[in-house]
Amino acid sequence: MNPSSQDPAAGEKSEGLPSTHSVTLKINGAEKRLELAPWTTLLDLLREHLGLTGTKKGCDHGQCGACTVLVNGKRINACLTLAVMQEGAEVTTVEGLASGEALHPVQAAFIEHDAFQCGYCTPGQICSAVGLINEGKAKTVDELRELMSGNICRCGAYPNILAAIEQAMRESGRSPKR
Ligand code: FES
Ligand code: FES
Repeated sequence: MNPSSQDPAAGEKSEGLPSTHSVTLKINGAEKRLELAPWTTLLDLLREHLGLTGTKKGCDHGQCGACTVLVNGKRINACLTLAVMQEGAEVTTVEGLASGEALHPVQAAFIEHDAFQCGYCTPGQICSAVGLINEGKAKTVDELRELMSGNICRCGAYPNILAAIEQAMRESGRSPKR
């Protein structure tokens, strides 16, 4: 008797490595279709498969915010989501924020306020700030600080980061109260 006809798992094992999945995403405005192992995170898709290394891998556990990107305009930790879960989504990384030569207002504000030292957390901070402004929930500076608390800066550049985001909020007409 063929053992696989009784034990479905035996059949799976005999097939060797699991198959890949086809995923289609719009990344920074360009449609990308990829064949990926089902366990590929969005972060690894961006960095390893597309070479978009602006998005950083810090903890790889959802605790530092270095990997923050925008998915359909909302900020998420790219290390915590599988690429296959984002089928059809629009993903924006730090590479996709500028409009041609013109920096995104949050990027420009980070430069103006010198809001980084080593810069490792910066792409995540910037994407997170863009998501925060999209959300429109931060009404005060304290709320701004709280809603950015998922983004860790090991250099301690927080005062300048907050000043930069506050300026970008002011420019977008959503100035937080003090
Ligand atoms: S690398 Fe994703 S939260 Fe740290
Ligand atoms: S600027 Fe170095 S970790 Fe934030």
